[in-house]
Amino acid sequence: MMNHQLENTKILVTGGAGFIGSNLCEELLKYNCDIVCLDNFSTGKIENIIHLFGNKRFKLLVGDIRNIDDCQKAVEGVDYVLHEAALGSVPRSIKDPITSNDVNVSGFLNMLIAARDAKAKRFVYAASSSTYGDSQSLPKVEDIIGKPLSPYAITKYVNELYADVFSKTYGTECIGLRYFNVFGRRQDPNGAYAAVIPLFVKKFINHESPVINGDGEYSRDFTYIKNVIQMNILALTTQNSDAINTVYNTAYGERTTLNQLVGFLKEFLGKYDPEILKVKVEHGPNRQGDIPHSLACIDKAKDLLGYNPEYSMKEGLREATEWYWNNLK
Ligand SMILES: NC(=O)c1ccc[n+]([C@@H]2O[C@H](COP(=O)([O-])OP(=O)(O)OC[C@H]3O[C@@H](n4cnc5c(N)ncnc54)[C@H](O)[C@@H]3O)[C@@H](O)[C@H]2O)c1
Repeated sequence: MMNHQLENTKILVTGGAGFIGSNLCEELLKYNCDIVCLDNFSTGKIENIIHLFGNKRFKLLVGDIRNIDDCQKAVEGVDYVLHEAALGSVPRSIKDPITSNDVNVSGFLNMLIAARDAKAKRFVYAASSSTYGDSQSLPKVEDIIGKPLSPYAITKYVNELYADVFSKTYGTECIGLRYFNVFGRRQDPNGAYAAVIPLFVKKFINHESPVINGDGEYSRDFTYIKNVIQMNILALTTQNSDAINTVYNTAYGERTTLNQLVGFLKEFLGKYDPEILKVKVEHGPNRQGDIPHSLACIDKAKDLLGYNPEYSMKEGLREATEWYWNNLK
């Protein structure tokens, strides 16, 4: 369905060659927008966006958000900014907090300044469920957060603080989306910091045992990429003045344990290759900085943005495993 509000607008997607960013670029092109993708390919890949190069409305800028000139070049003439560029992963930030801070905090501030100066209409950014930190309350409600448990969580919380101050001080319209364990096509299964779903999918496809950190009873609100796309579009287009300059849980609103996840993966991948049903999982120690359970309350996004996630974890996983089977095998 065409959203006329976005038609013929120009949108900057930072981190557009990454998992979430490339899915946003691809979807927004369907709305007849001009898309500028800014990426330094530190974790993003050209393969994620190469299929978009034939579209005249898609433009790639290779640049770094730590460099203010690159940010200023990228925001020239844009109506909206979707800021996805960051260094993800809690373990990465524990190993190298300085680089995570440079990219996620200094880079974020550069992008906010560039968006403010270019008079972009709105700045929608990737926040994180890690901001809930050591808060024990479930489900997670936006106003109740704990203390951060990792350098990564600090950077994502600082993003929210800066966005709040920019909205109050300079009138920049900001919306933060606290993503909860997003998964889907093009999420990278490789490398030391791969997310659990693509990592396990790749292991199963190769008949190797995935290693669960802990007993497998930790749970997450795994969120399919198509729900995340819906949230980003709602955040860009909302006309509700109460809905801006705030943050939203971006999730499905149900939790799945790691043991359940393994069961679903075997069910879906086993249809392509029954040998996968025989692959056993292994268990290792719990990971530093991990919280036992994560579950979002999504009422705020439903009430203020009209968010209505269409894909349950299981429906999303069915689509994602099909994509991985066709692309990894
Ligand atoms: N995937 C999740 O479950 C999840 C959860 C919470 C928050 N987030 C946030 O969502 C955003 C996107 O995450 P993702 O999963 O798509 O990760 P990703 O690593 O696939 O994408 C990040 C992109 O940013 C780019 N990038 C990194 N540093 C850059 C720099 N200095 N200059 C320009 N580009 C740079 C990378 O090359 C990559 O293309 C990030 O901000 C991440 O913190 C993701």
